[in-house]
Amino acid sequence: MRLGRTNVASVCAVILGIALLPAYAQFNAPKPTGPWMNTSLSPDERADLVIKQMTLDEKITLLHGTGMFGLGPVSALHTGSNGGAGYVVGIPRLGIPAIQMSDAAYGVRSSGENGRYSTALPNNLASAASWDLKAAYEYGALIGRELRDQGYNMSLGGGVDLTREPRNGRNFEYLGEDPILAGKMVGQVMTGLQAQHVLGDIKHYAMNDQESGRNSVNVNIDKRAMRETDLLAFEIGIQDANPAGVMCSYNRVNGDYACENKYLLTDVLKKDWKFKGFVLSDWGGTHSTVKASAAGLDHEEPAEIFYGEPMKKAVEAGQVPMSELNDHVHRILRAMFATGVIDDPPQKSVVDVVGGFEVSQKIAEQSMVLLKNENSQLPLDASKAQTIAIIGAHSDVGMLSGGGSAQVDPPGGNAIMPPGKGATVWQEHIWFPTSPLKTIKAKAVKAKVEYDAGTDPDSAAALAKNADVAIVFASQWVSEGMDLPNLALPHDQDALIAKVAAANPHTIVVLETGDPVTMPWVNDVSAILEAWFPGSRGANALANILFGDVNPSAKLPITFPKSEADLPHLKIVTPPPTSNPRWSPDAWKQIAAGLPAFQTTYDEGLKVGYKWYDTEHKAVLFPFGYGLSYTTYSYSNLKVEPGSDVRVSFTVANTGSRAGAEIAEVYAALPAGTGEPPKRLVGWSKVELNPGESKDVTVEVEPKYLSIFNVEKDAWQLVPGNYTFMAGPSSQTLPLKESVNLQ
Ligand code: BGC
Repeated sequence: MRLGRTNVASVCAVILGIALLPAYAQFNAPKPTGPWMNTSLSPDERADLVIKQMTLDEKITLLHGTGMFGLGPVSALHTGSNGGAGYVVGIPRLGIPAIQMSDAAYGVRSSGENGRYSTALPNNLASAASWDLKAAYEYGALIGRELRDQGYNMSLGGGVDLTREPRNGRNFEYLGEDPILAGKMVGQVMTGLQAQHVLGDIKHYAMNDQESGRNSVNVNIDKRAMRETDLLAFEIGIQDANPAGVMCSYNRVNGDYACENKYLLTDVLKKDWKFKGFVLSDWGGTHSTVKASAAGLDHEEPAEIFYGEPMKKAVEAGQVPMSELNDHVHRILRAMFATGVIDDPPQKSVVDVVGGFEVSQKIAEQSMVLLKNENSQLPLDASKAQTIAIIGAHSDVGMLSGGGSAQVDPPGGNAIMPPGKGATVWQEHIWFPTSPLKTIKAKAVKAKVEYDAGTDPDSAAALAKNADVAIVFASQWVSEGMDLPNLALPHDQDALIAKVAAANPHTIVVLETGDPVTMPWVNDVSAILEAWFPGSRGANALANILFGDVNPSAKLPITFPKSEADLPHLKIVTPPPTSNPRWSPDAWKQIAAGLPAFQTTYDEGLKVGYKWYDTEHKAVLFPFGYGLSYTTYSYSNLKVEPGSDVRVSFTVANTGSRAGAEIAEVYAALPAGTGEPPKRLVGWSKVELNPGESKDVTVEVEPKYLSIFNVEKDAWQLVPGNYTFMAGPSSQTLPLKESVNLQ
């Protein structure tokens, strides 16, 4: 829909001779003065002092963006933009800086086209596979640092919609299918990011669980299901991080667009969760002035169609009360003071490339999930003279990344294109220049390492036949703006893997996917490693795992089903043509005016991910929470102590011969009669253990994680009764079990 939209921006900037200097000048302006610069006052007090000085026009200025080339109208003021997705003009007279927003899901987006450099981290879903809260903090901190270095003071990242629909093209940007895992992880990403004095945001609020018809779909779902699934992830993330912004999503929820949905924005977000930051619309997700404002939308992006002149008129006519307008402004200013973007504005600087590589590689090593390892096929022995066949997925030059507004530009351009090709184009398949062939060769110095592109299965099988080991790389590209037609590996890669596996009994499959895939060859290969989209240093992380320098520890944050027939919905509901116009300048106006709704009903409700397969008794390929290691662990001594938080204690021992980190998971089954799926994740602990070592672990479970959402009382409720706590290495292997009565 928005082919090369930011490319258009840079081209226009060059043609019009627009300098990016004004933005730079704003960041380097003299320190503002005024009573609101007294840092001993609270962010709320400081915001109020500024508001007292503001004219109506100045207030309105903060409530909207200034446009985006290639995406609707662009204001003359846009020249101050730093080149990111959003630019809000500041108020120099009062020392309020511009807000320079950049997409930054797994790194700062579109840096290449601004002549800059960003680290690509492993994609967000990959990071969730680490289940590592410290790694999540580092993830956010790195993005925050690089945003500042590039002159941005707000990130558009923090995607936390649940993997309700495994074919959703944006699942790679989100944090999996469990609300507690996703919520805790996004909370740490945002905390790390905002600690760098950058405004954070959590998105897309809410129920944006499919891309098909995202501007028009009406999601029907009952309140209890919504609160206990997708909304719970937001609730936890917001409580843990106090993010500056929440981005409301494109879709409708139970009749109203998310960005003018009073239940979502006011009743839940602002009243129940006491969210103090501001709500900004997804790009083009605003559809009204008075209704949206009353519902709780504070800020329109990217343009000023509804929150510019029409907002001024509505205020003057009394349709939007001044108190409501002031609340929108207050929330934005408060967030700016609270996050430190006024007291400590970013200074453009050079990104720490080496530091970025280190963080990215470490997180990638913690994110790759070992799914199968028959006869200890892995790790490979680097000292052995052997022949290794490397096959497929451009593994000679690069590793895949996920597309859309999350796309980070690879240094030097796409690894599979001729050098110097330039900036990335919307929805192009981008391969990062991190070469598995090179890193494997560098490890296995005595080995003969040969490459086959995998385009001809017979030639690949011939190479594999004469090798001691064959490593087949298989990929599944995904992006914003699309969903997958099915979960099969595209381009006949299943046939390639089957042929290679038939030729060589020591076949290892490395997956680079953003969603689960089906595996008709699962029984025919000896090892499978899910590497996701592993970022700038993916190949280094991969080689460390393949050769055992790093012991894998990651666990799946999503279920891998056996087949699409097992999903809650056989097919994604796709929009009729009237609800999904072809992209043109006019389509933009149609979207703003509101497209005819088409319906989808998420009647699986509470049964998202493993909760669905558990309830329906459907066997899966690899369950949620599953992942192997090169060592083994045992679990014993479960003890459950009720209290204000329930304390679940047990012992984990490393019974193998290598040091490792075990993610020990705790699940709970709620009392019969609550209508809940058989179990839910309620906590975990990542335990580092040397061979032979054992550690006592305690997981404290807060009451909300054991509660149901009572719609009549409009509150969380711990239902008195019998709760069974289970602990173990995955959602389907839970050797420890104990029941207690909770009142
Ligand atoms: C995406 C958002 C993104 C925004 C700005 C939208 O299309 O849904 O996630 O932040 O564009 O690029």
